[in-house]
Amino acid sequence: MKNLTLMLVLATVTVAAVSCGPKKENKKEETKKEEAPKALVLYYSQTSNTKAVAQEIATRLGADMEEIVAVNPYDGDFQATIERSMQEREQGITPEIQPIKADIAEYEVVFIGYPIWFGTYAPPVATFLNQVDLGGKKVVPFCTFGSGGLDSSMRDLVAAEPDAKVLPGYGVRAARLEAMPKEIDQFLKANGFIEGEFVQLEAFPEQHPVSEEEAAIFDAAVGDYPMIHAQAKTVASRTLPNGTEYLFTAVDLPREDNPNMPPAGEMQVYVTVVEGEAPVFTQVIR
Ligand SMILES: Cc1cc2nc3c(=O)[nH]c(=O)nc-3n(C[C@H](O)[C@H](O)[C@H](O)COP(=O)(O)O)c2cc1C
Repeated sequence: MKNLTLMLVLATVTVAAVSCGPKKENKKEETKKEEAPKALVLYYSQTSNTKAVAQEIATRLGADMEEIVAVNPYDGDFQATIERSMQEREQGITPEIQPIKADIAEYEVVFIGYPIWFGTYAPPVATFLNQVDLGGKKVVPFCTFGSGGLDSSMRDLVAAEPDAKVLPGYGVRAARLEAMPKEIDQFLKANGFIEGEFVQLEAFPEQHPVSEEEAAIFDAAVGDYPMIHAQAKTVASRTLPNGTEYLFTAVDLPREDNPNMPPAGEMQVYVTVVEGEAPVFTQVIR
């Protein structure tokens, strides 16, 4: 039953993509030199994926960085963590965290990083958001996940901090962490945090029914990922500097291995095909 609940919860994951595209843009310094706003990078990370993103952002910006630490750390294995956090969710508990040392009032921009747990930010970040008022701040979410969750976590973040200005966020699959430094570079440039050239992707055209070849690309991209058992229905694609990005609309297939698990419906799956490499999915939005 727990496994079924987990499957369902993990299947409710959302994602959003970092855009990069063929049109090169360059955010040049305005004639009036403006001071970069003071930024703080705060993050929670259980297994260091999100920490790596936090370090990359802090290094690129020369920003202060601090870790959100649970008083009673989630230091068990994956299954133990799932069980503890499911229990806490059922009991409506968020874990106590150690006091944040940084004086948030000093910062104009707060980057907040977290792993996606059950489709949203991990519980220590929920505790932090319960304790703090980020009203008037620019808040930039970033996260790592198995398949997705940026969009859904951002909706929760906006609800938790209604007076903050929540800016576009960055999310990356744990399995694609090696792509992160380049994507962070583009993300920080595209959103005006650092100067330099970035690639602006064109919008996806309208979706069309998948061809056999496109269906094979979808299957190759998601085939090894146990949480996705779906069939691509329609797709649109756009050109990347080094390949093609596909946006598939897919539907869950019944699971022969677990007939109790009802199909969860429709999902959006981003797939990248870099020339000469196998297709990979970059995120799933449900
Ligand atoms: C309790 C728990 C729940 C998770 N839930 C999700 C989920 O809903 N969706 C998802 O894509 N990944 C999920 N994951 C995977 C993590 O988001 C992913 O491994 C992440 O990169 C871990 O980041 P960290 O190394 O910074 O802790 C979950 C992991 C754990 C431990």
